[in-house]
Amino acid sequence: MHILELRHVEKIYGEKENQVKALRDVSLKVSPGEFIAIVGTSGSGKSTLLNLIGGLDVPTSGTIWVKGKEIGSLKRKSLTIFRRRNIGFVFQNYSLMPVLNVYDNVALPVTFDSGNHVNHGYIEELLKELGIWNKRKKYPQELSGGQQQRAAIARALVNKPAILLADEPTGNLDSVTTVEVMGLLKTSCKKYNQTILMVTHNEGIAQICDRIIHIEDGRIVKENHSERKSSDAEEGGDFKC
Ligand SMILES: Nc1ncnc2c1ncn2[C@@H]1O[C@H](COP(=O)(O)OP(=O)(O)O)[C@@H](O)[C@H]1O
Ligand SMILES: [Mg+2]
Repeated sequence: MHILELRHVEKIYGEKENQVKALRDVSLKVSPGEFIAIVGTSGSGKSTLLNLIGGLDVPTSGTIWVKGKEIGSLKRKSLTIFRRRNIGFVFQNYSLMPVLNVYDNVALPVTFDSGNHVNHGYIEELLKELGIWNKRKKYPQELSGGQQQRAAIARALVNKPAILLADEPTGNLDSVTTVEVMGLLKTSCKKYNQTILMVTHNEGIAQICDRIIHIEDGRIVKENHSERKSSDAEEGGDFKC
């Protein structure tokens, strides 16, 4: 069973002479537990692809299935609930709420979800694993970039999403912190059998993934599969950036 499938997905922004074809006939199958890098030049359609998979935007044509559900068929409210329970997002700019401390930022997706309860034990486990348990009462602006990104990752993982979508999650981080954050993503991917799709500009980072998808001008132009599965690799530290 594929956890994610795209068939002939196209995305056009704008009207008439202002039309931009951001994605052209993209088809893709992803198995559970795959750690995938998406690479391509600026404007090639990487963020658009993640946004469509995450149900943040809709394709102009084509179909997307996540966990066997065609997300285009879901009504707005069902889509919001489905997304919250199954998909985690990590963005380059962290997007933490400045008025909430780290703990409350991480708990936020659960707090929003009336059918769900905050699992304090799990939040503690996540924050400890990410090395920011001692920062839980701090506000985002009191943290370094790396610490903020770890908080954002904890928030994305708090609902144990089947799919984690990360758009240049290490884009604003120095190389040491990048290595740490990548190790954490890889560990989480293995531990919870999560599927990760991560946009990156960094070839070194892409190399540690199971699969690299190259996008050019809205099309998938090339795919590489890693020789070894991520589950065979060391705990994330075995690469250079
Ligand atoms: N909301 C939008 N409205 C109009 N054009 C957009 C919008 N978002 C992205 N685009 C255009 O779609 C193309 C792909 O953008 P994007 O997916 O952001 O690329 P990438 O993430 O690879 O840099 C670009 O030409 C971009 O200018
Ligand atoms: Mg982008």
